[in-house]
Amino acid sequence: MCGISAYIGYREAYPIVINGLKRLEYRGYDSAGVMLFDGTNVQLSKTKGKVSALEKITEEEEERKVGNIGMGHTRWATHGVPNDVNSHPHTSQSGDLVIVHNGIIENYDTIKRELITRGYSFQSDTDTEVLINLIEEVKKTEGFKLGKAVQIALTNVVGAYAISVFDKNNPNEIIVARLGSPIAIGIGKEHKEFFVASDASPFVEYTKDAIYLEDEEMAIIKIGKHVKVRKIKNDKEVKPTIQKLKMSLDQIEKGGYDHFMLKEIHEQPKAIKDTFRGRMLPLEGEIKMSSIEDHLDKFLEANRIIIIACGTSWHAGLVGEYLFEDMARIPVEVEYASEFRYRNPIITNKDVVIAISQSGETADTLAAIKLAKSKGAFVYGVCNVVGSSIARETHSGAYTHAGPEIGVASTKAFTTQITVLTLIALKLGRANGSLASHTFNDYIKKMQLIPRQVEELLNIDSHVKDIANVYKDAKNCLYLGRGFNFPVALEGALKLKEISYIHAEGYPAAEMKHGPIALIDENMPIFVIATNKGHYEKVVSNIQEIKSRAGKIIAVVTQGDVQVKEIADHVIEIPDTVEALTPLLTTIPLQLLSYHIAVLLGKNVDQPRNLAKSVTVE
Ligand code: M6R
Repeated sequence: MCGISAYIGYREAYPIVINGLKRLEYRGYDSAGVMLFDGTNVQLSKTKGKVSALEKITEEEEERKVGNIGMGHTRWATHGVPNDVNSHPHTSQSGDLVIVHNGIIENYDTIKRELITRGYSFQSDTDTEVLINLIEEVKKTEGFKLGKAVQIALTNVVGAYAISVFDKNNPNEIIVARLGSPIAIGIGKEHKEFFVASDASPFVEYTKDAIYLEDEEMAIIKIGKHVKVRKIKNDKEVKPTIQKLKMSLDQIEKGGYDHFMLKEIHEQPKAIKDTFRGRMLPLEGEIKMSSIEDHLDKFLEANRIIIIACGTSWHAGLVGEYLFEDMARIPVEVEYASEFRYRNPIITNKDVVIAISQSGETADTLAAIKLAKSKGAFVYGVCNVVGSSIARETHSGAYTHAGPEIGVASTKAFTTQITVLTLIALKLGRANGSLASHTFNDYIKKMQLIPRQVEELLNIDSHVKDIANVYKDAKNCLYLGRGFNFPVALEGALKLKEISYIHAEGYPAAEMKHGPIALIDENMPIFVIATNKGHYEKVVSNIQEIKSRAGKIIAVVTQGDVQVKEIADHVIEIPDTVEALTPLLTTIPLQLLSYHIAVLLGKNVDQPRNLAKSVTVE
């Protein structure tokens, strides 16, 4: 996916667009570009690399920064390698029209061939250049205004898009449109200026009024006028909803931390508390979630719950499986959304599907939701980003309230997803009688302690850093856990892989002897979650097996542990809690460990290579 940041108004557009791109770099960062219009000329600057590389180029020539209209883009390559030419913005053949695009035009090749027969030639390998030329062709042959030409062109494309288009012959307007990729419009005072961006972060300090376009909608943004929104397919005018943004500037800045990831790890005590807020009512001995209460029969009568998600959210879903089955005795299946959507799954109207997604924009999860809905299932969403596509597509749902997560490696999204799933499992367990009231109340008491315990746990940072120093040069690592902590082992391995590029695998501890044990030698660090609950003795046996083969053990244990301490090379202690809640604690040292290893190796923690924060393509 890519980031779009645009401005039209009375201020210098360049700093607004560039700062906006920096905030959107989590969406893609392999190339960047900006278009400025100074009233006469369109100035284009594009380069392979990050927004900082783009800034360097523009610094060389002052005129590249002048103009009250600007459109910028930060890219995650799909069609065409990341290079200067393939970077956005793209211009039409005449040079009059300019576009920035997030998404994929699937039928671009057919359109391109047709345009070539009509005399068009192409500079880049991108689908986006095809789209802007299609718009130009429609505009030219039909004599339409830009808005109409965009609309007609879009009815001819298959795929996904968020676009912003500018015509230098009509420079007081920008046309934006969306299908499958998000786009927000910030409205300035008295409509004297407008901001366009992939999310609201680029304009949060300028306005709190925003319109989020729905799928298949386009907007005509004209200085001095109200934003006009139309349906692309039937041209019907729609009254846009202007939302008041709750996001604040400090939420999207590093606030003194070296990296967003570290800031977000440290935000977890507050994030978990925010997830509880208004939902967990210890005095009443109750969990209040209207999104569940309003559909309680669906959950209680469900044959099973199917959880769909990708990446870290899928790991949270696996923890959910243990929680729902343990607390509410409801059968659960956890599916990769990307597999689920294509394997003709058996779904009925007796199934409840829970879709988990931080961004709420993941293409595979969204497609899996649509499939489940089409087969009659009730779909419940657990999202972080308010108003995201998944939040809108699901029948009901709960926000995690983690606040913006900018580091590409998910941290607070994971723990708050688990928190929401725990609340739901407890609520359902109480509602269907699987949990006795004293057990339920005990869980609530223990849950309340979690934010403070996470805070306490964060004090082990320098101890974890020392361990990171010892193992930073490892080529391979294993992560082992059992029960509720098996998904945490998977998540620990994913965190290490994605930001340090060290190969790591997560396994259920008992599975080790069925294969991975062959990998163990004195060079293999093995991170084992061995809390004093559940399968402690069995995990201790697994640790013994590793020790006998000279593997290096780094164990996450409960405070006061004696047995593992004697065998392990290093231990990291977590505060005591009930087994079902341990994932909220055991995951913290593993996050810190990955963070420190990546920093020690000099990797780009917040923007690891090849990755994007949310994956809006297949
Ligand atoms: O926004 P989502 O939760 O749907 O994203 C799913 C995955 O792409 C995401 O969790 C990814 O695995 C992260 N980079 C993990 O840190």
